[in-house]
Amino acid sequence: MKRARGFKKITPTDSSKEKIKLDDEFAEVKTDKVFSNVVMPPLKTSHHPSVPCAPVRSDEMVDLNPFPYLYKSTYDFKFDNIKQKILNDINKTKSVVEQTGIITPEKEGGYTTVLLNNASVNGQMWSPPHTWPEFFNFTNIWLPQKIKQIWKFWNLSEFNVPFISGSWINEHSYGSYTEGHHHQNSQISLSCYLNVPKDSGRFMLKDPMEIYNYSRPMNHNHEQVGGSWRYIGVDTNDVIFFPGFIQHQTERSESNEKRYIMSINVDHIHAAAFEHFKDKTIFKPLWQPNYTSLGPSLVDEP
Ligand SMILES: [Fe+2]
Repeated sequence: MKRARGFKKITPTDSSKEKIKLDDEFAEVKTDKVFSNVVMPPLKTSHHPSVPCAPVRSDEMVDLNPFPYLYKSTYDFKFDNIKQKILNDINKTKSVVEQTGIITPEKEGGYTTVLLNNASVNGQMWSPPHTWPEFFNFTNIWLPQKIKQIWKFWNLSEFNVPFISGSWINEHSYGSYTEGHHHQNSQISLSCYLNVPKDSGRFMLKDPMEIYNYSRPMNHNHEQVGGSWRYIGVDTNDVIFFPGFIQHQTERSESNEKRYIMSINVDHIHAAAFEHFKDKTIFKPLWQPNYTSLGPSLVDEP
């Protein structure tokens, strides 16, 4: 057959040789080349921290939870001694809301003194509650010990020194609640339950793995039973610790007596940066940085 002018003759290529070559190359690839970074498991005698686990019966099933987010402790806040001081701040924040119409996560008659942060009240800078003399022991003695424990549990660096970056008090009356929110950039957040009347609502926490549930065969009543929210019962003087990135809120109060909660955020600063601050009162670390672990250049400095 005559070919049209300008067309090149197409010769079918025999790729079988090339294919065999490729197959040979693939055959050459060994697992240790593909997974060269696979590390050996540690020896049994290594000193890795382990999850405490008591013996368990065969009819039991123990939740080991080696990656805990949530901790609870208790502290006697002696609410009656600080009630009037709290009410004074709540009144100030109410007038800010009335004058500005500012919207906060506190709904249906809830109020928060977070609005008073960095505000001047009667010519004086507002004092966040963790700085009150009434909370001196809590802030300076009790809290650093607890934060140190969590710092260890989560294996946070000793180069990073925690400090309290803010605190405020929320008031909830009948029907009030705090809507879902998180505490941006707070390594450890605390809810301190100063006064929790009966039926004034539980603490609610959202599963940080919520998106994973989209690929799980959840029960048909998943949303009806709270979806990704879990409810934590709380009492007066409870202190709940959680990472600030976790979404949380409070249940609507069904008590005629008001509920009061103090929130605290613990942020961190690198010890080397802190050391170079001229004014060290800007941040008050919860414990003194361990400069010896930062190297000789810092240790040698006066
Ligand atoms: Fe919060």
